[in-house]
Amino acid sequence: MLDAQPGIAAEQAPQRVAAVPLTPGQGVFAGKVAIVTGSESGIGRETARALCQQGAAVVLNGRCPERLAHTLRELESAGFAVTSYVADVTDYAACEALVETAVLTFGRLDILVTNASISQRAYFADMQPEVFKQVLDSNVYGTVYPLKAALPALIRTKGSVTFISSISALNGMPSGSAYCAGKAAVSNLAHTLRLELADTGVHFGVVHIGFTQNDPDKRVLDAAGQPVPIAHRPPRWQKSQAEVAAIILGHIRRRRQRTVISALGLLIVLVHTYLPRLGDWIVLTTTRRLRHFYE
Ligand SMILES: NC(=O)c1ccc[n+]([C@@H]2O[C@H](COP(=O)([O-])OP(=O)(O)OC[C@H]3O[C@@H](n4cnc5c(N)ncnc54)[C@H](OP(=O)(O)O)[C@@H]3O)[C@@H](O)[C@H]2O)c1
Repeated sequence: MLDAQPGIAAEQAPQRVAAVPLTPGQGVFAGKVAIVTGSESGIGRETARALCQQGAAVVLNGRCPERLAHTLRELESAGFAVTSYVADVTDYAACEALVETAVLTFGRLDILVTNASISQRAYFADMQPEVFKQVLDSNVYGTVYPLKAALPALIRTKGSVTFISSISALNGMPSGSAYCAGKAAVSNLAHTLRLELADTGVHFGVVHIGFTQNDPDKRVLDAAGQPVPIAHRPPRWQKSQAEVAAIILGHIRRRRQRTVISALGLLIVLVHTYLPRLGDWIVLTTTRRLRHFYE
Protein backbone atom coordinates (compact mmCIF):
# COMPACT_ATOMS: atom_id res chain seq x y z
CA MET A 1 0.00 0.00 0.00
CA LEU A 2 1.19 3.48 -0.72
CA ASP A 3 2.26 5.27 2.28
CA ALA A 4 1.33 8.80 2.93
CA GLN A 5 3.38 8.62 6.12
CA PRO A 6 7.04 9.49 6.18
CA GLY A 7 9.10 6.39 6.34
CA ILE A 8 7.38 3.86 4.09
CA ALA A 9 8.12 3.49 0.41
CA ALA A 10 5.01 4.23 -1.58
CA GLU A 11 3.94 2.16 -4.55
CA GLN A 12 0.25 2.78 -5.18
CA ALA A 13 -2.06 5.74 -5.45
CA PRO A 14 -1.60 8.27 -2.66
CA GLN A 15 -4.29 8.24 0.01
CA ARG A 16 -5.71 11.31 1.67
CA VAL A 17 -4.43 11.52 5.23
CA ALA A 18 -3.73 14.40 7.52
CA ALA A 19 -0.59 16.26 6.51
CA VAL A 20 2.33 15.61 8.82
CA PRO A 21 2.94 18.82 10.74
CA LEU A 22 6.39 20.16 10.03
CA THR A 23 8.25 20.84 13.21
CA PRO A 24 10.10 24.11 12.76
CA GLY A 25 13.64 22.89 12.18
CA GLN A 26 17.00 24.52 11.83
CA GLY A 27 18.44 25.51 8.50
CA VAL A 28 17.75 27.75 5.54
CA PHE A 29 15.06 25.43 4.17
CA ALA A 30 13.18 24.92 7.44
CA GLY A 31 9.45 24.57 6.77
CA LYS A 32 9.99 23.89 3.05
CA VAL A 33 8.95 20.70 1.25
CA ALA A 34 11.01 19.30 -1.63
CA ILE A 35 10.77 16.55 -4.23
CA VAL A 36 14.06 15.27 -5.63
CA THR A 37 13.56 12.87 -8.53
CA GLY A 38 16.02 10.01 -8.94
CA SER A 39 17.08 10.41 -5.31
CA GLU A 40 17.47 6.74 -4.41
CA SER A 41 21.14 7.02 -5.40
CA GLY A 42 24.02 9.30 -6.33
CA ILE A 43 23.79 13.09 -6.49
CA GLY A 44 20.01 13.01 -6.00
CA ARG A 45 20.38 11.13 -2.71
CA GLU A 46 23.04 13.56 -1.46
CA THR A 47 20.93 16.55 -2.55
CA ALA A 48 17.99 15.10 -0.62
CA ARG A 49 20.23 14.59 2.41
CA ALA A 50 21.57 18.16 2.20
CA LEU A 51 18.03 19.57 1.92
CA CYS A 52 17.03 17.56 5.00
CA GLN A 53 20.09 18.81 6.88
CA GLN A 54 18.93 22.34 6.09
CA GLY A 55 15.48 21.69 7.55
CA ALA A 56 13.39 20.68 4.51
CA ALA A 57 10.99 17.74 4.39
CA VAL A 58 11.84 15.66 1.34
CA VAL A 59 10.02 13.22 -0.91
CA LEU A 60 12.48 10.74 -2.36
CA ASN A 61 11.86 9.11 -5.72
CA GLY A 62 13.27 6.35 -7.87
CA ARG A 63 12.28 3.33 -9.91
CA CYS A 64 13.84 0.62 -7.77
CA PRO A 65 11.75 -0.08 -4.60
CA GLU A 66 14.60 -1.79 -2.74
CA ARG A 67 17.15 0.97 -3.32
CA LEU A 68 14.59 3.64 -2.57
CA ALA A 69 13.61 1.92 0.69
CA HIS A 70 17.29 1.67 1.65
CA THR A 71 17.86 5.40 1.10
CA LEU A 72 14.63 6.21 2.91
CA ARG A 73 15.69 4.16 5.96
CA GLU A 74 19.11 5.83 5.96
CA LEU A 75 17.68 9.37 6.02
CA GLU A 76 14.86 8.45 8.35
CA SER A 77 17.23 6.95 10.88
CA ALA A 78 19.10 10.26 10.88
CA GLY A 79 15.85 11.82 12.13
CA PHE A 80 14.88 13.64 8.94
CA ALA A 81 11.33 14.28 7.66
CA VAL A 82 11.27 12.07 4.57
CA THR A 83 8.93 9.90 2.60
CA SER A 84 9.27 8.22 -0.75
CA TYR A 85 7.35 7.35 -3.84
CA VAL A 86 8.32 4.74 -6.42
CA ALA A 87 7.67 6.30 -9.81
CA ASP A 88 9.08 6.28 -13.29
CA VAL A 89 9.16 10.00 -14.04
CA THR A 90 8.58 9.40 -17.76
CA ASP A 91 5.04 8.31 -16.76
CA TYR A 92 2.86 11.39 -16.28
CA ALA A 93 0.25 9.69 -14.06
CA ALA A 94 3.05 8.48 -11.78
CA CYS A 95 4.37 12.04 -11.55
CA GLU A 96 0.94 13.29 -10.50
CA ALA A 97 0.92 10.67 -7.75
CA LEU A 98 4.46 11.69 -6.71
CA VAL A 99 3.38 15.31 -6.30
CA GLU A 100 0.22 14.25 -4.50
CA THR A 101 2.36 12.30 -2.06
CA ALA A 102 4.27 15.47 -1.18
CA VAL A 103 1.15 17.57 -0.69
CA LEU A 104 -0.81 14.92 1.21
CA THR A 105 2.09 14.02 3.45
CA PHE A 106 3.66 17.39 4.16
CA GLY A 107 0.90 19.82 3.16
CA ARG A 108 2.69 21.80 0.45
CA LEU A 109 5.46 21.78 -2.16
CA ASP A 110 8.18 24.42 -2.37
CA ILE A 111 11.11 22.86 -4.21
CA LEU A 112 11.39 20.51 -7.19
CA VAL A 113 14.76 19.16 -8.26
CA THR A 114 14.51 17.13 -11.49
CA ASN A 115 17.58 14.97 -11.16
CA ALA A 116 16.49 11.57 -12.56
CA SER A 117 18.35 10.70 -15.72
CA ILE A 118 19.71 7.84 -17.77
CA SER A 119 23.05 8.37 -19.43
CA GLN A 120 24.72 6.50 -22.28
CA ARG A 121 28.00 5.19 -23.54
CA ALA A 122 27.31 4.66 -27.21
CA TYR A 123 28.05 6.23 -30.55
CA PHE A 124 25.06 7.53 -32.48
CA ALA A 125 25.70 5.37 -35.57
CA ASP A 126 25.59 2.20 -33.46
CA MET A 127 22.65 3.10 -31.26
CA GLN A 128 19.32 1.33 -31.53
CA PRO A 129 16.65 3.99 -32.13
CA GLU A 130 14.68 2.91 -29.05
CA VAL A 131 17.79 3.34 -26.88
CA PHE A 132 18.22 6.90 -28.14
CA LYS A 133 14.55 7.51 -27.28
CA GLN A 134 14.89 5.99 -23.81
CA VAL A 135 17.85 8.21 -22.92
CA LEU A 136 16.24 11.31 -24.41
CA ASP A 137 12.88 10.60 -22.74
CA SER A 138 14.40 10.13 -19.29
CA ASN A 139 16.16 13.48 -19.56
CA VAL A 140 13.39 15.47 -21.30
CA TYR A 141 10.03 13.96 -20.27
CA GLY A 142 11.60 12.91 -16.95
CA THR A 143 11.96 16.67 -16.39
CA VAL A 144 8.81 17.94 -18.11
CA TYR A 145 6.32 15.53 -16.49
CA PRO A 146 7.27 16.05 -12.82
CA LEU A 147 7.28 19.81 -13.41
CA LYS A 148 3.93 19.79 -15.23
CA ALA A 149 2.41 17.79 -12.38
CA ALA A 150 4.00 20.00 -9.70
CA LEU A 151 3.43 23.42 -11.25
CA PRO A 152 0.09 24.29 -9.57
CA ALA A 153 1.50 23.43 -6.12
CA LEU A 154 4.70 25.36 -6.85
CA ILE A 155 2.78 28.42 -8.02
CA ARG A 156 0.88 28.40 -4.70
CA THR A 157 4.15 28.65 -2.76
CA LYS A 158 6.10 30.75 -5.30
CA GLY A 159 8.45 27.82 -5.21
CA SER A 160 11.68 26.81 -6.88
CA VAL A 161 12.46 24.46 -9.77
CA THR A 162 15.95 23.23 -10.54
CA PHE A 163 16.70 21.15 -13.60
CA ILE A 164 19.83 19.07 -13.18
CA SER A 165 21.73 19.31 -16.42
CA SER A 166 25.35 18.68 -17.31
CA ILE A 167 28.34 20.51 -18.70
CA SER A 168 27.77 18.24 -21.72
CA ALA A 169 24.67 20.35 -22.48
CA LEU A 170 27.04 23.23 -23.19
CA ASN A 171 28.69 21.44 -26.11
CA GLY A 172 28.49 18.17 -28.00
CA MET A 173 30.30 15.11 -26.67
CA PRO A 174 31.18 12.01 -28.70
CA SER A 175 29.29 8.93 -27.40
CA GLY A 176 26.75 11.12 -25.63
CA SER A 177 24.33 12.20 -28.39
CA ALA A 178 20.92 11.59 -26.77
CA TYR A 179 22.15 12.53 -23.29
CA CYS A 180 23.70 15.83 -24.47
CA ALA A 181 20.60 16.64 -26.54
CA GLY A 182 18.31 15.98 -23.58
CA LYS A 183 20.40 18.03 -21.16
CA ALA A 184 20.54 20.93 -23.65
CA ALA A 185 16.77 20.73 -24.14
CA VAL A 186 16.00 21.18 -20.45
CA SER A 187 18.41 24.09 -20.23
CA ASN A 188 16.50 25.87 -23.00
CA LEU A 189 13.19 24.87 -21.42
CA ALA A 190 14.15 26.60 -18.17
CA HIS A 191 14.72 29.83 -20.05
CA THR A 192 11.34 29.66 -21.81
CA LEU A 193 9.53 28.88 -18.57
CA ARG A 194 11.28 31.73 -16.76
CA LEU A 195 9.90 34.08 -19.39
CA GLU A 196 6.42 32.52 -19.76
CA LEU A 197 5.84 32.16 -16.03
CA ALA A 198 7.62 35.28 -14.81
CA ASP A 199 4.45 36.58 -13.13
CA THR A 200 4.03 33.45 -11.00
CA GLY A 201 7.08 34.13 -8.85
CA VAL A 202 8.32 30.57 -9.39
CA HIS A 203 12.09 30.23 -9.74
CA PHE A 204 13.38 28.23 -12.74
CA GLY A 205 17.06 27.39 -12.79
CA VAL A 206 19.52 24.94 -14.29
CA VAL A 207 22.60 23.40 -12.73
CA HIS A 208 25.22 22.16 -15.20
CA ILE A 209 27.10 19.48 -13.31
CA GLY A 210 30.64 18.44 -14.23
CA PHE A 211 32.47 15.18 -13.47
CA THR A 212 31.31 13.85 -10.13
CA GLN A 213 32.08 10.72 -8.14
CA ASN A 214 29.58 7.98 -8.92
CA ASP A 215 28.02 5.24 -6.84
CA PRO A 216 29.98 2.04 -7.61
CA ASP A 217 26.87 0.40 -9.08
CA LYS A 218 25.95 3.29 -11.40
CA ARG A 219 25.13 2.04 -14.87
CA VAL A 220 24.56 3.77 -18.22
CA LEU A 221 23.18 2.31 -21.45
CA ASP A 222 25.28 0.93 -24.29
CA ALA A 223 24.21 1.04 -27.95
CA ALA A 224 21.92 -1.99 -27.52
CA GLY A 225 20.38 -0.66 -24.31
CA GLN A 226 22.35 -2.91 -21.96
CA PRO A 227 23.46 -1.40 -18.63
CA VAL A 228 27.25 -0.93 -18.52
CA PRO A 229 29.60 0.83 -16.07
CA ILE A 230 30.31 4.48 -16.75
CA ALA A 231 33.52 5.39 -18.65
CA HIS A 232 36.62 6.02 -16.56
CA ARG A 233 37.09 9.55 -15.24
CA PRO A 234 40.32 10.57 -13.46
CA PRO A 235 39.39 10.90 -9.75
CA ARG A 236 41.23 14.24 -9.47
CA TRP A 237 38.75 15.72 -11.97
CA GLN A 238 35.75 14.68 -9.93
CA LYS A 239 33.87 16.54 -7.24
CA SER A 240 32.29 14.56 -4.44
CA GLN A 241 28.52 14.09 -4.48
CA ALA A 242 28.30 16.06 -1.21
CA GLU A 243 30.19 19.01 -2.77
CA VAL A 244 27.84 19.01 -5.75
CA ALA A 245 24.79 18.78 -3.46
CA ALA A 246 26.03 21.80 -1.49
CA ILE A 247 26.36 23.79 -4.74
CA ILE A 248 22.82 22.75 -5.78
CA LEU A 249 21.50 23.99 -2.43
CA GLY A 250 23.29 27.33 -2.87
CA HIS A 251 21.75 27.60 -6.34
CA ILE A 252 18.24 26.99 -4.95
CA ARG A 253 18.72 29.36 -2.01
CA ARG A 254 19.91 32.22 -4.24
CA ARG A 255 17.29 31.34 -6.88
CA ARG A 256 19.99 31.43 -9.52
CA GLN A 257 19.15 31.09 -13.22
CA ARG A 258 22.20 29.06 -14.09
CA THR A 259 25.01 27.45 -12.14
CA VAL A 260 27.93 25.84 -13.94
CA ILE A 261 29.89 23.53 -11.68
CA SER A 262 33.65 23.21 -11.86
CA ALA A 263 36.47 25.10 -13.52
CA LEU A 264 36.25 22.68 -16.46
CA GLY A 265 32.59 23.60 -16.94
CA LEU A 266 33.38 27.31 -16.97
CA LEU A 267 36.25 26.72 -19.40
CA ILE A 268 33.87 24.83 -21.73
CA VAL A 269 31.42 27.75 -21.66
CA LEU A 270 34.17 30.24 -22.50
CA VAL A 271 35.82 28.18 -25.24
CA HIS A 272 32.59 27.15 -26.97
CA THR A 273 31.20 30.67 -26.81
CA TYR A 274 34.25 32.61 -27.98
CA LEU A 275 36.47 30.00 -29.67
CA PRO A 276 34.14 27.25 -30.94
CA ARG A 277 36.62 25.89 -33.50
CA LEU A 278 39.26 25.50 -30.80
CA GLY A 279 36.65 23.73 -28.67
CA ASP A 280 35.95 21.23 -31.46
CA TRP A 281 39.67 20.70 -32.08
CA ILE A 282 40.23 19.88 -28.39
CA VAL A 283 37.33 17.42 -28.31
CA LEU A 284 38.39 15.71 -31.57
CA THR A 285 42.00 15.45 -30.41
CA THR A 286 41.07 14.00 -27.04
CA THR A 287 38.60 11.62 -28.72
CA ARG A 288 41.48 10.17 -30.72
CA ARG A 289 44.02 10.12 -27.91
CA LEU A 290 41.81 9.27 -24.94
CA ARG A 291 39.23 6.87 -26.39
CA HIS A 292 38.69 5.21 -23.00
CA PHE A 293 37.51 8.57 -21.71
CA TYR A 294 34.50 8.43 -24.05
CA GLU A 295 34.08 4.67 -24.45
N1 LIG B 1 27.84 11.91 -12.09
C1 LIG B 1 28.27 12.80 -12.97
O1 LIG B 1 29.47 12.88 -13.25
C2 LIG B 1 27.30 13.76 -13.60
C3 LIG B 1 27.79 14.72 -14.49
C4 LIG B 1 26.90 15.61 -15.08
C5 LIG B 1 25.55 15.54 -14.79
N2 LIG B 1 25.09 14.59 -13.92
C6 LIG B 1 23.65 14.55 -13.69
O2 LIG B 1 23.39 14.45 -12.30
C7 LIG B 1 22.17 13.72 -12.08
C8 LIG B 1 22.44 12.58 -11.12
O3 LIG B 1 23.42 11.72 -11.69
P1 LIG B 1 24.14 10.58 -10.86
O4 LIG B 1 25.55 10.57 -11.28
O5 LIG B 1 23.82 10.70 -9.42
O6 LIG B 1 23.45 9.27 -11.50
P2 LIG B 1 22.69 8.06 -10.84
O7 LIG B 1 23.40 7.59 -9.62
O8 LIG B 1 22.48 7.07 -11.94
O9 LIG B 1 21.30 8.71 -10.41
C9 LIG B 1 20.26 8.90 -11.29
C10 LIG B 1 19.02 8.32 -10.66
O10 LIG B 1 17.90 8.58 -11.50
C11 LIG B 1 17.12 7.41 -11.54
N3 LIG B 1 16.28 7.38 -12.73
C12 LIG B 1 16.66 7.27 -14.02
N4 LIG B 1 15.59 7.30 -14.82
C13 LIG B 1 14.52 7.42 -14.01
C14 LIG B 1 13.11 7.49 -14.24
N5 LIG B 1 12.63 7.46 -15.49
N6 LIG B 1 12.29 7.63 -13.19
C15 LIG B 1 12.78 7.68 -11.93
N7 LIG B 1 14.09 7.60 -11.65
C16 LIG B 1 14.95 7.46 -12.68
C17 LIG B 1 18.14 6.30 -11.55
O11 LIG B 1 17.52 5.08 -11.20
P3 LIG B 1 17.66 3.76 -12.12
O12 LIG B 1 18.79 3.02 -11.50
O13 LIG B 1 16.33 3.11 -11.97
O14 LIG B 1 17.96 4.17 -13.55
C18 LIG B 1 19.11 6.80 -10.50
O15 LIG B 1 18.65 6.46 -9.21
C19 LIG B 1 21.71 13.26 -13.46
O16 LIG B 1 20.75 14.16 -13.96
C20 LIG B 1 22.97 13.32 -14.28
O17 LIG B 1 22.73 13.48 -15.65
C21 LIG B 1 25.93 13.69 -13.34
